[in-house]
Amino acid sequence: MDKAFATRTVHAGRHDFVKLGVHAPPIDFSSTYPTPDLDVAARSFDSLVAGDEPEGTFIYQRLFNPTTDRFERALAELEGAEDAAAFASGMAALSAVLLAAKSRGSHVVAVRPIYGTADHLLSSGLLGLTVTWTTQDEIAAAIRPDTALVVIETPANPTLELVDIASVVRQAGTVPVLVDSTFATPVLQQPLALGATFVLHSATKFLGGHGDVLAGVVAGPHAFIRDVKHVRAATGGLLHPLASFLLHRGLPTLAVRVEKAQDAATELAVRLADDRRVRNVRFPSLPGCDPRGLLDRQMRGPGSVMSFELCSEDPAVMRDFLGALEIITPAVSLGSTDSLIQPPAALTHRVVDEHAREEVGISRGLLRLSVGLEDVRDLWRDLDHALAEVASRLEMREHAEVTAR
Ligand SMILES: Cc1ncc(COP(=O)(O)O)c(C=O)c1O
Repeated sequence: MDKAFATRTVHAGRHDFVKLGVHAPPIDFSSTYPTPDLDVAARSFDSLVAGDEPEGTFIYQRLFNPTTDRFERALAELEGAEDAAAFASGMAALSAVLLAAKSRGSHVVAVRPIYGTADHLLSSGLLGLTVTWTTQDEIAAAIRPDTALVVIETPANPTLELVDIASVVRQAGTVPVLVDSTFATPVLQQPLALGATFVLHSATKFLGGHGDVLAGVVAGPHAFIRDVKHVRAATGGLLHPLASFLLHRGLPTLAVRVEKAQDAATELAVRLADDRRVRNVRFPSLPGCDPRGLLDRQMRGPGSVMSFELCSEDPAVMRDFLGALEIITPAVSLGSTDSLIQPPAALTHRVVDEHAREEVGISRGLLRLSVGLEDVRDLWRDLDHALAEVASRLEMREHAEVTAR
């Protein structure tokens, strides 16, 4: 039966429950598995190391874990993918895709901004790759014979710029395209349906959703995910079964969480955009923030992350503002039940070249706000109060400076 998305979030990855006689996903913590029949074990070992299915025994947790496999199948189903591979973090997932891509070439084309550490991983050459940074309209010109992958993130962290996935795929030609869809989740965007090869999530964010799991997952065609699993079997980084259980447990409420946070974020973004105490509010559904009209074509909603600047770049003003917040927690990460705020230039994107940062609008005064599931009236009161505190302290400082002159 063709099932609606919400139904799939509830039932995905439960294929073996009837056979097992269980109603909730069982957690298998085994680090190793009995191998009484060496022929069976050898066949399974060869299959798993190549990135394929187990045959008769799971052998060893780094090669396969049934709890993690259930989460992977569920996520693949929600992304419309043949297969998925889960990792101990989003960065581990990206690293494995990049290492697997090296068999095709050692050049990557990427569009800024992307998550700061992903930018660093590509720019630093840590994995032996070179990168050409370009814009979403100049992908075709950046492709070389040794280009192995195109990397984009949409909505982009932290400026919320939307990248046209279908256009990037067209420009990339035969080169695989990886879309980091962490901010959108499969609830709001399905990159594979638009022609992307890989969709990647820092599952630490909305998929986990409760601020208590570090994880990454990448989905795509079996032939590509097979190579990624081959790298994972050799380098490690498989997601722990307890984290896989928590992620799988959270999927049935994913759409509800994403939509509820999105409602609150939409209201806060409109209020902030109207408020003279802040400037440069960026949120996909605000006027001017989606010049390519991607919200209807590519995303089903704006999500629940936004960014904005305070009226002063003075670090003391930023400190005052963050210090005055009572409900919203100053912290990195996003997509949790609680609202989180952080200045990307000082934290998540501090590893990015300063000039490159400024060029794509990551100013020192920029704040990224991830809206959680609190009552929107409390969130607005919190922001309003902190902005008022900042305004009055600024006035006091100016007054003191005038009297000192
Ligand atoms: C968009 C995006 N991609 C990837 C990552 C990396 O994920 P992780 O922190 O799970 O390694 C992050 C982390 O913040 C992110 O925001």
